[in-house]
Amino acid sequence: MAKLCVNVDHVATVRQARMITNPDPLEAALLAESAGAVGITIHLREDRRHIQDKDVPRIKKGINTKLNLEMALANEIVEIAHKVKPHQVTFVPEKRREITTEGGLDITKGRRKTKKIIDGFKDRKIVVSLFIDPDEDQIRVAHDLSADAIEINTGAYSEAGTKREIKSRLRKIEKGAILANNLGLATHAGHGLNVNNVGAIAAISTVEELNIGHSIVSRAIMIGFSSAVKEMIGAITTRIG
Ligand code: PXP
Repeated sequence: MAKLCVNVDHVATVRQARMITNPDPLEAALLAESAGAVGITIHLREDRRHIQDKDVPRIKKGINTKLNLEMALANEIVEIAHKVKPHQVTFVPEKRREITTEGGLDITKGRRKTKKIIDGFKDRKIVVSLFIDPDEDQIRVAHDLSADAIEINTGAYSEAGTKREIKSRLRKIEKGAILANNLGLATHAGHGLNVNNVGAIAAISTVEELNIGHSIVSRAIMIGFSSAVKEMIGAITTRIG
């Protein structure tokens, strides 16, 4: 059964809008854990638009499950990750102007550099996952590079507009998951998943881990909004605080 790792980046996005200390991604991580998440995912982007350097050791220390650190294959971030030693790293492509991670890594390029970075993490006993599209060549290269896992990019599937597109993109993910399993790679999946589209991905028996952020944070705002307003009205009417 696929297990949920919750990505708390967008809690930090709201915090960074004011550059203060709340909402605190660690507090959200602890709530996610008590709700059943088996891991916490954060992405330390080179542009630091949400998670900040100091969040990484603080979240690693504060959580009770595993920390999955998403990161670009960038020397500066590699150095930070070596110091913090998360349980798992997931390499993702990063472009400064993108709104979110767009597409999987192309690991057919720059293999020597990628392998060196992967080996550096494996030497430190950190699990290495590669965020890639469900493409046969990419999956085979992930195996050649001795990654422990792949995270299949479900972005195209989640953006599919028609039933036919959904079916064909899902089929591609299923085929990718079979290949990864045959090659001995653990399979994770994520990007754009929500309560309406996660079921078909969770039904793929070899998918072990799902990384989900935006839809959970979005839903949390809507589920929690009326409580927050009521709490404020309570504070106004009682004039306490
Ligand atoms: N997996 C990876 C590799 C990602 O980059 C992201 C986005 O940070 C996610 C999963 C989570 O995607 P979403 O926020 O759309 O659930």
